[in-house]
This record gives sequence, structure tokens and C-alpha cells, in this order.
Amino acid sequence: MILEPITKRRSHFSFSGEPVAQEKLLEIIEAATHAPSGGNNQPWRYYYALNGTSGFDALLGCLDEGNQRYADKAGALILSAAQMKYVYKDKEYKNSHAWHDTGLANSLLLIQAVAIGLKSHPMGGFDPEKARKVANLGPDYDPVVMIAVGYPGNEASLPADILKKQTAPRKRKPFEEIVKQL
Ligand SMILES: Cc1cc2nc3c(=O)[nH]c(=O)nc-3n(C[C@H](O)[C@H](O)[C@H](O)COP(=O)(O)O)c2cc1C
Repeated sequence: MILEPITKRRSHFSFSGEPVAQEKLLEIIEAATHAPSGGNNQPWRYYYALNGTSGFDALLGCLDEGNQRYADKAGALILSAAQMKYVYKDKEYKNSHAWHDTGLANSLLLIQAVAIGLKSHPMGGFDPEKARKVANLGPDYDPVVMIAVGYPGNEASLPADILKKQTAPRKRKPFEEIVKQL
């Protein structure tokens, strides 16, 4: 059953601009927190802002221009970040799985978004140093990806090049190329 929201998930381009209800946003972030993590360090951190707020404009301003063209209509923007160090028995260590674990958490967030009728789009195209400043991230944290979340918009009002991406068939590598029995 869980395969259904997994296969339905797409990186969506057409958003309505309506702010996402805060409880829905917190619900998808809660899904992320159930991810497994090395040493149960839970390195993921989330910073979000709803459309119509100064926080949203600040996060939007971190995105590459190409991403801003559709993300400005998202109902919320999320910045995910990873805590790159952890403490064990009073000693500090580098967490070499911090990005991996944050990615795992992000994928749960994206799937829960589908399950509750929200569209989403993860984006690596942003200025990490700007994002660091906006979220006031300390040196032990790496910005990982930003995620646009929202309600579906009117596809007809998308610029032609973005509409083409939105309606393109989903491409996946052949199973044989990525799976090998040893
Ligand atoms: C780490 C990461 C970075 C991405 N960066 C961008 C981006 O900057 N802009 C964009 O439009 N899509 C971005 N995407 C979305 C991918 O293009 C998309 O996941 C891929 O084309 C597969 O399509 P699907 O998500 O609809 O299955 C990113 C996805 C990931 C996981």
C-alpha cells in the first residue's frame, strides 16, 4: 500500500500559491523524524516558512532563478539541513552519514506529502551560504536541499518550458542497470 504514494510522488512545478496549512506542514515534517539514522543521531533539521511571510521571501531568495520561477507559488518552502558532528562519550565525531540520513528523512517527508494531498519539489539549486544566513545555521550544520510544498495550481498558467517538464513522462533507469544479484 505504501508503494502507491511512493509511485505517485513527482517533483511538481505547478503550485497554486495558497499557503499550506501549518498543521499539514508539521505533519510531513513529523514523518521525516521517523527515519532511521546512524547511531540514532537524527542529524536532520528543518526550517520552514509559509507563502506570504518574510521568511518565505528570504528562503525564496536563496533559490536559483530557474527554481524561483515555479517555487514562488509554493505554499511553503522548507530548508533541510544536516548536523555534521555528533558527541559520543564526551568526544566529538564527524557524522559521515549525516547527508544520507537527512536524505532518508526527506524522502519520508515527500511521501507523506503525497499521502495528504500535497505536491512537492526537492531542489538542490540554491545558494547554501545565503540559506545558512537565513536559517542562522552554525558551522556544524550543512544546508542539504530545499523543498517546495504546496497545493496544485493551474498548469495552463505555467511558462511553456516548465509545463513541458511538468507533463513529461517519468523517467527511470532500467531495473537491470541498477540491480545486480551477487
Ligand atoms: C538532491 C536533489 C536536487 C534537486 N535539485 C533540483 C533543482 O534544483 N531544480 C529542479 O527543478 N529539480 C530538482 N530536483 C528534482 C529532480 O530533478 C527530480 O527528482 C528528478 O528529475 C526525478 O523526477 P521525479 O522527482 O519527478 O521523480 C532535485 C532532486 C534532488 C533529489
